[in-house]
Amino acid sequence: MAIIFEPVQGKSGFNPAPADFVRGLRRICDEHGILLIADEVQTGFARTGRLFAMEHYDVVPDLMTIAKSLAGGMPLSGVVGRAEIMDAAAPGGLGGTYAGNPLAVAAAHAVLDIINDEKLCERAARLGDRLKAKLEALKADVPQIADVRGPGAMIAVEFCKPGSHDADAAFAKLVQTRALERGLLLLVCGVYSNVVRFLFPLTIQDEVFEEALGILEDVLTETIGAAV
Ligand SMILES: Cc1ncc(COP(=O)(O)O)c(C=O)c1O
Repeated sequence: MAIIFEPVQGKSGFNPAPADFVRGLRRICDEHGILLIADEVQTGFARTGRLFAMEHYDVVPDLMTIAKSLAGGMPLSGVVGRAEIMDAAAPGGLGGTYAGNPLAVAAAHAVLDIINDEKLCERAARLGDRLKAKLEALKADVPQIADVRGPGAMIAVEFCKPGSHDADAAFAKLVQTRALERGLLLLVCGVYSNVVRFLFPLTIQDEVFEEALGILEDVLTETIGAAV
C-alpha cells in the first residue's frame, strides 16, 4: 500500500502542501505500514529552489518519482528511494524499452553538473523572488490577482473576480491569449482553470526574463477591464 502526493501540486494550481499535512502523511504511513511516495516529476531538479521539493520539509519519503527536468528534455524518468524497497524487485524484474537509455542518462548527468556549476537552486529562488515581487506589486493595479504563491521558481498567480473568491477563468484565458500574441507562452492550470503558472528554464538569460516580466505587466494591466 502507498500514498503518493505532489509536494507542490502541478496541474492543479501550484499549491504547496502545508508542512503539517506532509508530517501527518508521514505519521499515518508509519503507523499503518504504508509507503510514502513523493511525486517530484514537476518539482524536482532545482525548480523549487532546492534540488527536490521534499527538502523544504522535515519529512523523508520512502520513494520519489522523477522525470521532466531530470534530463533537460531528453526522455528519462525514474523511481528512487530506500534501498530495501528498490532492491525488492528481482534482477530483471523491472524494465522498459527506454529504461536506462544511455543518451538520456548522459543528458541527466549533464543536467546535474549544470545545476551544480551554475548554482541553479539559488538562481531559481532569485528569479522566483523577482517574479513574485512583480506580481505582488501588480496586485495594487490588477484587482483580479487573488493570490501569488509557490516556492523557488515554481510560481503561480491565481485570478478571481474582483472583491470575491469566484474563480475568473476568462481573465486567465485572456491573459494567456494576449501574452501569446506578444510572444510570451503561459500555461493555465488549476481546478477552475483560473491560475497561470510560470515554468521558465532556470538557465533563462536575464534580459529574456526581464522582457517576459515587461510583457506580463503590460498584458495584465491591459486586461483589467476586458474580461467578461
Ligand atoms: C506531477 C506529475 N507527475 C507525473 C507526471 C507524469 O509523468 P510522465 O509523463 O513522465 O509519466 C506528470 C506529467 O505531466 C506530472 O506533472
